[in-house]
Amino acid sequence: MPSLSCVELLQWALPRLSLRWPGYRRVHRRVCRRIGRRVQDLKLPDLGAYKEYLDAHPEEWRLLDSFCWIPISRFLRDRVVFERLRTEVLPALVAGARNRGARAIRCWSAGCASGEEPYSLTILWKLGLATRYPSVSLSVVATDIDAGLLERARAARYRASSLRELPRAWIDAAFERSADVFELRSEFQQGIEFRHEDIRERIAPGPFDLILCRNLVFTYFDASRQRQTLDRMLLELVSQGALVVGRRERLPEGSIGIEVWDSASGIYRRAATGDAARSADLRGVASGPMTGGAVESMVEQWT
Ligand SMILES: C[S@@+](CC[C@H](N)C(=O)[O-])C[C@H]1O[C@@H](n2cnc3c(N)ncnc32)[C@H](O)[C@@H]1O
Repeated sequence: MPSLSCVELLQWALPRLSLRWPGYRRVHRRVCRRIGRRVQDLKLPDLGAYKEYLDAHPEEWRLLDSFCWIPISRFLRDRVVFERLRTEVLPALVAGARNRGARAIRCWSAGCASGEEPYSLTILWKLGLATRYPSVSLSVVATDIDAGLLERARAARYRASSLRELPRAWIDAAFERSADVFELRSEFQQGIEFRHEDIRERIAPGPFDLILCRNLVFTYFDASRQRQTLDRMLLELVSQGALVVGRRERLPEGSIGIEVWDSASGIYRRAATGDAARSADLRGVASGPMTGGAVESMVEQWT
């Protein structure tokens, strides 16, 4: 077997996991370090041997998949997006909820890492909007595939580097500081439910007014899995509800049932028209593939 670089290995393996190399270009060293440690643990001579090992051991793909989870996040990541949520999107969602007779805004943070994103929402709501809407509450379902990250999310303890985009006054209001650890005060943890879920297998049940799906599906998943996941997410979004993707991300070409709200911030809105017909179409799609373990079913396809 000729020697193989880690980039070559990833370019071969990622499509087999329904992931895409361009999404990993900037972060591949992190994945390669994990693979390198695994190769050492297995006492294999090189990456060519690891490729052969993957061919011979279908169960290894599950581990390789886990090496591809990228945990990077921070509070108010892309602050301009949260500013847009505060000034325009959340007020519009409150108006929509009131029209439906609802008194709560329901949000889903998909791929919530160590909690920075869902907690950013509760901080933004409590410090930036709650006094304006005293009769409306905000609830957040936060999901991630990585159980270790969710444990850290529940502990709600952070280093200063995670807080660098938060205004000083919000840090003082929302965190208790001891030495170099910042602990989120309990009132900002209320209203959040953390769940251990693989978005490829399960979409959090809505209806949601707001879905944040940033720096996950539309960066790392391949085109077909992006479309499948988008269709399923849209089913859980109320009419005129907002979908926020990462600032460098774009929805798949030709996506239907969704329109741009603010392209610079990656904010989209569920289309109001044709909801019933579209939902019927999408439910047909949603009840079809993607049941059972996502990685297992991929492995079955190759073996
Ligand atoms: C780069 S972080 C993004 C965190 C946050 N959304 C943000 O933009 O700051 C991607 C997160 O998605 C999670 N993830 C990766 N694959 C997933 C999957 N199939 N289902 C659910 N979460 C997944 C990772 O564990 C990681 O926490």
